[in-house]
Order: sequence, then C-alpha cells, then structure tokens
Amino acid sequence: MVARDDRLLTAGAPRTGYGRRMSLSADLQVRRLRYADLAGSRTLGSEAYGSSGAPAPLPPEEEWAASPGRSWGAFDGDTLVARLTVFSMTSWFHGDRVPTAGVAGVAVVAERRGEGLLRPLMDAALAEARGRGEAVSTLFPTAPGIYRGWGYEIVGSFDAVELPSSALQRVAPAPGVDVRRATQADLPALAGVHARWSSAQNGPLARAEAPFSTDREWLEDYTGVTVALEDGEITGFTTWDRGQGYDPRTAVIQVDDLVSVTGGAARALWRFLGASSSVVGRVRVATSGLDPAWHVLPDLTTTVVRTRPYMLSVLDVVGALSGLRLTPLTARLPFAVRGAGLDGAFVLEVSDGVTAAAPGPSPAAAAGEAAREAAGAADRPVFSARGLAQLYAGAQSAANLRLAGELTGPADDDATWTALFGGRQVHVRDYF
Ligand SMILES: CC(C)(COP(=O)(O)OP(=O)(O)OC[C@H]1O[C@@H](n2cnc3c(N)ncnc32)[C@H](O)[C@@H]1OP(=O)(O)O)[C@@H](O)C(=O)NCCC(=O)NCCS
Repeated sequence: MVARDDRLLTAGAPRTGYGRRMSLSADLQVRRLRYADLAGSRTLGSEAYGSSGAPAPLPPEEEWAASPGRSWGAFDGDTLVARLTVFSMTSWFHGDRVPTAGVAGVAVVAERRGEGLLRPLMDAALAEARGRGEAVSTLFPTAPGIYRGWGYEIVGSFDAVELPSSALQRVAPAPGVDVRRATQADLPALAGVHARWSSAQNGPLARAEAPFSTDREWLEDYTGVTVALEDGEITGFTTWDRGQGYDPRTAVIQVDDLVSVTGGAARALWRFLGASSSVVGRVRVATSGLDPAWHVLPDLTTTVVRTRPYMLSVLDVVGALSGLRLTPLTARLPFAVRGAGLDGAFVLEVSDGVTAAAPGPSPAAAAGEAAREAAGAADRPVFSARGLAQLYAGAQSAANLRLAGELTGPADDDATWTALFGGRQVHVRDYF
C-alpha cells in the first residue's frame, strides 16, 4: 500500500463567511483522492473537459503515487461529485522564486453544478497549500467568475500566436550568431538562459519541479531544440515540433519556447523557424505578454489564435510580501486587505527595495473591532484580495486598482506602491 495523505475533512456546516449561498449536504466529505478514486476522477474529468479516443489505461499505483500534484475530491456519501489537483510549483516574481500552488483539473459533476460544491473543495486544497508555505496560487480559468471569491484575478495570459513562415525570412540577419541542434550536454546552459529570461519577468515558472522540469525527457519531447550561439555561448533557444505534411498551405510548426537573452539570438531563431517556408506555411508560437524577442519582427503578420487568461491569488499576505527585491526605495507602508479570508491590517517595510511585511493593527484596533472598522478607511489604504493579487503580480497600478474599486482609502502612498511593484512584465509559458 502506498502512503498517501488521505486526510479526511468533513465539510460539516457550510461556511458562509464570504456571503455565499450554500445548500450542501451534511454528508459531504472533502479529502485527498486515493488510488481507488482514480477511475471515477478520470471519468469526471473527461465528462467536464471532453475526451477523444479510448481512455488511457490507469497507471500502476506506485506510478500514480509518485506523480506530481495533490488531487482532492468532494464526496457525497461514496460518490465523487467534485475534484481538482494542486501542483507545487515555483514561479518568479520580483526576482524571487515564490512557492506557488497551481490549481488545475477543477470539475463538478454536471448534475450537481451550482450547489456550491466547489467552496469546501477549494477551501481544503488552499488551506493545505498555505500550510505548505505556498504564498500565492495561480490557475487558468475557463471563466474568471468561478475563482474571484477566493481572491483570484486575471494578471496575464498564455497565448498561441501564428506567423507566416515567409514573414520570418524578412527578419534582419544576425551576424555572429550561429544556430545548431541542442544536445543533452546543453541542458544546464538552456536552464541558464531560461532562468535569465524568467527571473526578469513576473509569473513564469522556474521549471524546477515535475511536470515542468527542463530535464532529459523534456528535451526528447520535441522534434528539435535549436540553440543560438554567440562566441560559443548559448544566448537563446527554441523548442519545436515539426507537425504533419509538407503543403505550406496547411503545415504548421508548433513552437513551445522561443527564449532569447540578446536581440541577435532572437533574430537568428526566428530566421531558423522561417527557413522551412517551402514546406511549412505557418509557425504557431506559445507566448505571453509583450516579449522582447518579438520586437525584432519587421511586420504585423501575427494572429492570436488562442488565449488563456492566467489568474493569481495571494494565499499568505505576510509570506508573499516579505523578502522581495522591489524597486530600490525605502518606505514604510501601512495597508489593509479585505476579502477571501485575508482580512487584516499590515505594514510593509521596504529598505532599499527589500521587503518585510508584518501584521500591523491600526492604532484604533485597541479600541475594538467596530472602532477599527470605522477608522480603517481613514487610517490606511485598503486592498481587496483581488486588488492585492494584481498589485503583487505587477499587473495593475494603484491608480487602476482605484478605478476598479479594488483599492480604497488614503491615496498618499499610491505612487510608491506603483513604483515598488511595477516595472516587470507578466509572463507565463507553462500550461496546467
Ligand atoms: C466550473 C465548475 C467547476 C463550477 O462548479 P459549480 O458547482 O457551479 O461551482 P459553485 O456552485 O461552487 O460556484 C463557485 C463559483 O463559481 C461561479 N461560477 C460557476 N460557473 C460559472 C461560470 N460558468 N462563469 C462564471 N462563474 C461561474 C459561481 O457563481 C460561484 O461564484 P461565487 O463564489 O462568487 O458565488 C463546473 O461548472 C464545471 O465542472 N464546469 C466544467 C469544467 C470547468 O469549466 N472547470 C473549471 C476549469 S478552470
């Protein structure tokens, strides 16, 4: 028998702390999935997301137990009625590697949707993530409204963008940059290039953990991984699948990564992708945000063919806001957070950009909760949980949060908040 944490949680009396309607059965139980639940969970998943062809055989128990992800289920009696999976990931934010709970595979059985079954399931999975020190959580929603109650807000998107191969032949040449096929020996250099690019952004996974690790298997997954070299040093790479056929009207090369740390590497890699134009008419690239590698393209022949919004929530205010290296300013910023269970007053101390956050009750707190509530707005700015998520990700300025009603109270520190958290673009390049 494989040891798994199958801690049983009983939803018990429904929580109404966030003003939500609840009609849950008292028999509802929320717990980590066991191997015996796997077939039912798969059926629920394929009914929710659709599946093509015959289902893959179930993995042996040992293999399942070793797979990444913590799967949770809600059970009405013995029947699985909702499930989700949480991946422990590391993402880059403000130059720091941040422990992140990536939520995926959320599904409620069709006949039971709208009953509020997701609430106890998400609450249990996020409580566990918090306990493991995961300071933020991210996910790709099918509808953002599902997750706003937990403080998630859209901070970026993962897109598929197509370009005609012929356009790539017009990219300016890159003298002094060579391209060649990557080998296993290049893996550390590829990881180095990825870290250099991703540490300069907010949001990308560090690709430190399965199933996102850039290891031997990852390299073998592609038709090819091609690197750009300058003076013998790898300064960029692209991971690509050739796709089917040689009719340029229909054939497409699929590119998962085009990562470069110099303009020359970007030009060389785009030209490499365009070199198949006699047999492949289009290149479809997985990308996000405004990436400098795209600024070497000479024309406007790109088409966004799919976009997947990315949401973030802060799970732990003190954990998420401490130890960051922000814009090198020194400031003391009292603030409060409302909603999604993050409610409280805090102070952010910033010393030459390095942050330390701590609970910091307002002076009125001593006079009691009612007085604090009354004084709260005048005392310090108040972020909604979703406003804090957007600020943290560097996705919105304080001014924009005010326009959306996600930041209220004194505005004296708005410019400082914006200066501290702005300046990095939001990117995400791994789907889960
Ligand atoms: C999405 C899904 C899990 C929601 O299940 P549900 O039983 O309706 O969830 P709940 O009743 O617990 O509602 C949770 C919240 O989601 C909101 N919600 C549910 N469906 C929604 C939709 N299609 N669009 C926007 N919001 C939605 C509810 O209004 C509720 O919001 P609140 O917290 O502000 O009250 C379910 O419809 C499903 O399995 N869909 C198919 C698969 C899917 O889309 N999964 C999500 C992948 S990211």
